[in-house]
Amino acid sequence: MTPSEADYQRAVELLRAGELVALPTETVYGLGADAANPAAVAKIFAAKGRPADHPLIVHLAGHDAVEHWAEQVPAVAWELMETFWPGPLTLILKKQAWVPDAVTGGQDTVGLRVPGHPVALELLRRFAAASGAHAGIAAPSANRFGRISPTTAAHVAEELGDGVPLILDGGACAVGIESTIVDCSRAEPVVLRPGHIAPSHLEAVLGRIPAIETAHGAPRVSGSLEAHYAPQTPMRLVASERLLDFLNAQRHKGDRCAVIGHSQPPQAGMPHLWRMLPADPVGYAHDLYGALRDMDHAGVALIAVEALPEGAAWAAVADRLRRAVAGAGQA
Ligand code: TXA
Ligand code: MG
Repeated sequence: MTPSEADYQRAVELLRAGELVALPTETVYGLGADAANPAAVAKIFAAKGRPADHPLIVHLAGHDAVEHWAEQVPAVAWELMETFWPGPLTLILKKQAWVPDAVTGGQDTVGLRVPGHPVALELLRRFAAASGAHAGIAAPSANRFGRISPTTAAHVAEELGDGVPLILDGGACAVGIESTIVDCSRAEPVVLRPGHIAPSHLEAVLGRIPAIETAHGAPRVSGSLEAHYAPQTPMRLVASERLLDFLNAQRHKGDRCAVIGHSQPPQAGMPHLWRMLPADPVGYAHDLYGALRDMDHAGVALIAVEALPEGAAWAAVADRLRRAVAGAGQA
């Protein structure tokens, strides 16, 4: 999946004209606009149906652009960039005074990331070549507010349809869940959203495991709202050892369920729709949103998800599942 020369040119023209472009990243697809143009950024909120006080991540072509957007960048932030960019890590830094409130939600910080997807990087480089070396693309996940993040171009079309004039297709996202967010604007770096880059990876740079602080209900990190990443079908997390009893009970009630498992294989005689995801957290993250989306389309009464193993390695997917359960069924 590589966009054509004409696709890239059109994408840059649209961005420069203050229009939206959906783009692939290695985490999830983003809904992008010129981050320096508040009117363009406002279109993102309108297309997503997202409250306007939620800050957006600014995507950059490289480290060189960082100080155009952020000030007082601490040494530890530069080390994190060196180690993990381009890649699935967003840094929260003190913003430069000029950065539009539309991007930061009126806060004095800005979220920055150099994504690791070749199509995103190519678009960012071309946009910067056309609009100024430090140009950035503000992009939240390209889903309707509170819904499942898209990991293919088809998912974006399903979510936003005609609301976005161009969707660049870069194939399926390699990571599958949103970037790890580390707040470097405080005295000590803190993880605001767990992701593929785990606390143990951050420890290699920070010299210690950072605290994880996923505030409940605060709009600072929109993914921190309890209900998020959610299908329209109700969802339940069910412990592995209780799964069969649970499904039998549902069957007696006459309810059709979909099952997302990882260790409990499909049972003979169970009429339920049963999907097995990889039993490792990286593979599970890659497949999770696509599986939730498929199950949501299956017309079942309930999605039963086999509860995940304990442990730090599963923290990022456990976080997404917990929020999906909290928001599910609130169509
Ligand atoms: O992987 C990703 O991060 C994807 C791709 C497209 O890059 N983007 C993404 O964007 O997940 P979004 O808007 O769905 O989530 C961005 C998160 C939000 O929870 C937002 O509140 C937080 O980043 N954020 C952005 N700027 C912030 C800031 N200044 N302070 C605190 N949180 C911030
Ligand atoms: Mg999102």
